[in-house]
Amino acid sequence: MDKELRIDKNNVPNHVAIIMDGNGRWAKGRGMSRIFGHRNGLTAIRETLQAASDIGTKAVTIYAFSTENWNRPKLEVNALMNLIVSALNSELEGFMRNNVRVESIGNIESLPKKALKTLKNVIKETQSNDSITLTLALSYGAREEIVNAVKNISKKVVNNELHIEEISEKIINSHLYTFNLPDVDLMIRTSGEQRISNFLLWQMAYAELYFTDVLWPDFRKEHFFDAIIEYQNRERRFGKTSEQITTKK
Ligand code: IPE
Ligand code: IPE
Ligand code: MG
Repeated sequence: MDKELRIDKNNVPNHVAIIMDGNGRWAKGRGMSRIFGHRNGLTAIRETLQAASDIGTKAVTIYAFSTENWNRPKLEVNALMNLIVSALNSELEGFMRNNVRVESIGNIESLPKKALKTLKNVIKETQSNDSITLTLALSYGAREEIVNAVKNISKKVVNNELHIEEISEKIINSHLYTFNLPDVDLMIRTSGEQRISNFLLWQMAYAELYFTDVLWPDFRKEHFFDAIIEYQNRERRFGKTSEQITTKK
């Protein structure tokens, strides 16, 4: 594919985070129910994973269900939970074939039993795969994640396992759900909305943000490559000057 050839394989993001948005609008535009849109988002996930693998990205994290999404109508929440179960079951074979390791972040204990059990099984089955890590953000909220980290750090301080002076960015990082993931390099959000919606606030501190009008069920490899090409045209300065970056000081 043309677009893929334009990608510099030496400068691919290690970690791409994706806010898969627009399923409801996609379905509505076809006179269908919102869940039809969610179901049609699966192809987009498959294509994205394939594209990320093709260029050598090691980690993709997808926002599948937020802590705020619990406030949607019960019917939609239930349908999404059922979809999580059926999708995990149907995709497992593909994850094994493509050497995909599945992980999760979020308050997964709040998921219905069946979803939790299926998720844990897929995580276990794929734990030795090492081509790419797909992290599913399920019942995830960045603020909840930070509260959880603060509680766990506080417990260690109270138990004298950690001194207050030792609390550092590294320590906080290691208490987040994403403790074994690198910082996000690129965040992609579909459907034209330009907001973070409580996703990976800490981890995206220096991420490049990419917004596209494409609705998630329409998102394909070429759209992913567009985002990568745009990413490679950005200059990541991390507070330095452009001159420092170009002369590699
Ligand atoms: C994203 O699509 C999927 C989830 C949040 C689970 P939406 O369901 O938010 O679709 P829109 O934004 O209503 O079109
Ligand atoms: C964010 O999408 C959550 C997921 C993609 C799972 P939403 O569609 O729920 O976000 P808001 O509420 O419009 O910001
Ligand atoms: Mg939405």
